Amino acid sequence: MDEYRKLTNEVGAPVADNENAITAGPRGPVVMQDVWLMEKMAHFNREVIPERRMHAKGWGAYGKFTVTQDISRYTKAKVLQPGAETETFVRFSTVAGERGAADCERDIRGFACKFYTEEGNWDLVGNNTPTFFIRDVHNFSDLNRAVKRDPRTGRRSAQNNWDFWTLLPETFHQTTIVMSDRGIPASFRHMHVFGEHTFSFYNEKNERVWCKFHLLTQQGIKCLSDEEAERINGMDREYHGKDLYDAIERGEYPKWTMYVQIMTEEQARAHYENPFDITKIWRHKEFPLIEVGVLELNRNPENYFAEVEQAAFTPAHVVPGIGFSPDKFLQGRLFAYGDAQRYRLGVNHNQIPVNRAKCEVNEYHRDGAMRTDGNYGGAPAYTPNSMGAWTAQPEVMEPPLEISGAMWRYDPKDDPTDDCFRAGGELYRLMSEEKRQILIENTARNIQPVTANIKYRHAVHCYLADEEYGRRITEAMGLCMDKVKELAALDNNGLIAATLKPDQV
Ligand code: HEM
Repeated sequence: MDEYRKLTNEVGAPVADNENAITAGPRGPVVMQDVWLMEKMAHFNREVIPERRMHAKGWGAYGKFTVTQDISRYTKAKVLQPGAETETFVRFSTVAGERGAADCERDIRGFACKFYTEEGNWDLVGNNTPTFFIRDVHNFSDLNRAVKRDPRTGRRSAQNNWDFWTLLPETFHQTTIVMSDRGIPASFRHMHVFGEHTFSFYNEKNERVWCKFHLLTQQGIKCLSDEEAERINGMDREYHGKDLYDAIERGEYPKWTMYVQIMTEEQARAHYENPFDITKIWRHKEFPLIEVGVLELNRNPENYFAEVEQAAFTPAHVVPGIGFSPDKFLQGRLFAYGDAQRYRLGVNHNQIPVNRAKCEVNEYHRDGAMRTDGNYGGAPAYTPNSMGAWTAQPEVMEPPLEISGAMWRYDPKDDPTDDCFRAGGELYRLMSEEKRQILIENTARNIQPVTANIKYRHAVHCYLADEEYGRRITEAMGLCMDKVKELAALDNNGLIAATLKPDQV
């Protein structure tokens, strides 16, 4: 333990006494001259950094991604070429709870994976569901305010939660998933994870296809009931973090098989739903899963704050061969993450070791708080320059994308192909009787404190998705089926108008 022997101050000078403040006389006051004490207190006061606005509670691990199949016909990304092996860092999270929240809450789980590729970092920032609640960036901060704390009481509010969800019918599919048995995974190891959005691939010939990422757990799906989760949260709020850490320490490395779904540009133009709407899924029968490789997590971080808390992921980080799509929700995310991280960690957060690329980085950014890498010394600071310093690489330019239509604020609900209930209804019909019963019971329990007008909205949505789903949820919530049918005949605006006030129904 020699390395632990010598205590020093911040700049390496030995500290003589770390227990007894310097005082004026044995019973007198502390003197300013105890500079080591001042340093210690001042540092402590600054140890907390802002938590992530959402996904604040999380756990991370390192691993590797190995490509086992050949998808080079779709993408030229080196990280996805046959046989490629790439170091990764993954962070799992809950969404609504703060940094101290319990792990086993009913919520979606975040999955963020940094691939340290030879062409730069690629971050896949997804969740454990194949779809999302909403599809316009405008709604994102509101979703989080609805699921986080009420401004008056400071408490989480089922009323706010369900009010928001049921006013936006596109949330229905995701709400069904969150209320199902999958709403509380038994561990991070026992859940699938998804990129959710439509992304793009382009190959060596610069031909583009659209794609979605799916990582299916090799450990199998396991979930917790509300009762089990309640008991666990009472005993161990860090249950999922412990499970991941312990499994890796035991040498039981969790693995996920990566698959992609591919849609050509022609198929996208002819598709019966908007393929860039994150609240829609691409059906596996029409767009089968194509295997890519295996993600394995095999090393725990050495220091939670340095590596997990300071990790910064953004969907804006892609590498040649992988691109974005017209999904307007994804477009909003491209700005949000870096902006949040410049505030949360500082402008030079990509120099923090867990975030730093493993390949050479030459970006002309200079200075800024906490610049620790030598700041490129005397190398040219502007471009273009005549010194032959770093130049752009047009060979990695992605193919141009044809777009059409006037610039405007389009509401997807005005699109005649838009159906907010189709996928939720299909999911319900796919469930076994046991899973349907769990879904109904979980929903009824969760929505119980909410006023009847909002319960009616949800019952109508369930009914529009599937007659049996609607009937069972109506019974479980103690509502009137005739009223549900009457409300179901209205359009969305009519339903909202008829259920706006608690005493209306
Ligand atoms: C417009 C929509 C969205 C916005 C504006 C948004 C914004 C953010 C922001 C600001 C953070 C915190 C970043 C940080 O401080 O490091 C975050 C974290 C996260 N978001 Fe989103 N988000 C959106 C949608 C989504 C979607 C659709 C997914 C999943 C597909 C997702 C997955 C995550 C994950 C996994 C994290 C945690 C990353 C980590 O572990 O550090 N978000 N989001």
